[in-house]
Amino acid sequence: MAPHTEQLTRPAVSLRGLTRSFDGRTVLDGIDLEIPAGQFTALLGHSGSGKSTLLRAVAGLDHEVTGSGELVAPERVSVVFQDSRLLPWRRVLDNVLLGTDGKEAAAKGREALAEVGLAGRERSWPGELSGGEAQRAALARSLVREPELLLADEPFGALDALTRIRMHGLLRELWERHRPSVLLVTHDVNEAIVLADRVLVLEGGRIGLDLTIDRPHPRSYSDPLLGEYRERLLAALGVTEDHQ
Ligand SMILES: Nc1ncnc2c1ncn2[C@@H]1O[C@H](COP(=O)(O)OP(=O)(O)OP(=O)(O)O)[C@@H](O)[C@H]1O
Ligand SMILES: [Mg+2]
Repeated sequence: MAPHTEQLTRPAVSLRGLTRSFDGRTVLDGIDLEIPAGQFTALLGHSGSGKSTLLRAVAGLDHEVTGSGELVAPERVSVVFQDSRLLPWRRVLDNVLLGTDGKEAAAKGREALAEVGLAGRERSWPGELSGGEAQRAALARSLVREPELLLADEPFGALDALTRIRMHGLLRELWERHRPSVLLVTHDVNEAIVLADRVLVLEGGRIGLDLTIDRPHPRSYSDPLLGEYRERLLAALGVTEDHQ
């Protein structure tokens, strides 16, 4: 799944005039967006700004998007949510393998669990996993599908600060190895700038800011240039550092 030049020149996601209203209230107001194949993009915005609505539309989970909308997305798309959505009555490996079949899939499932640091936990029940482990299992489940596009809606939102930092490292590592296009929804400015190479701010139903984060990885919070990006993003969100 390593990207080749041809892949990099064609967008993984292409939206034109994407519009979504609920009961006459417009949440997404003619969004134009292209995400190049293999790009790691984060989407920020206030609660209720429409981040999840946009992600659901890109995932093809929303059939009521309207407008002169055009939506192009790859075939193999995986979605990860804030809670792991593991089925409690299936063992961890069976959860990872859900919807796949064959011996090859089982081997891939084991491999994916090893990649997220859960080797040996194949036969555990989801209830025996910690929150962070459950999210890692959810990542493994998305990996076995070898997604061209990984959509994640606040996947670390329910985790404690330390686990979250570990998960950042893991997600970035997995991205480097498999290179899917990523659209990560988060309300955490630091998470966005430490992980993504491009950060979008959703505001008033539109992409209000589209910022390229041009810093090498792994990134350090103390990098003064990251501080500048942080300020610009907070300003776009209407927040000053003092009020964080
Ligand atoms: N199925 C629905 N029916 C009616 N309104 C909806 C529906 N889904 C979303 N909305 C509305 O659309 C707006 C955007 O919701 P959305 O869940 O996309 O926000 P969000 O940016 O993901 O917020 P959060 O950060 O709190 O998750 C909200 O005002 C919400 O109430
Ligand atoms: Mg949401």
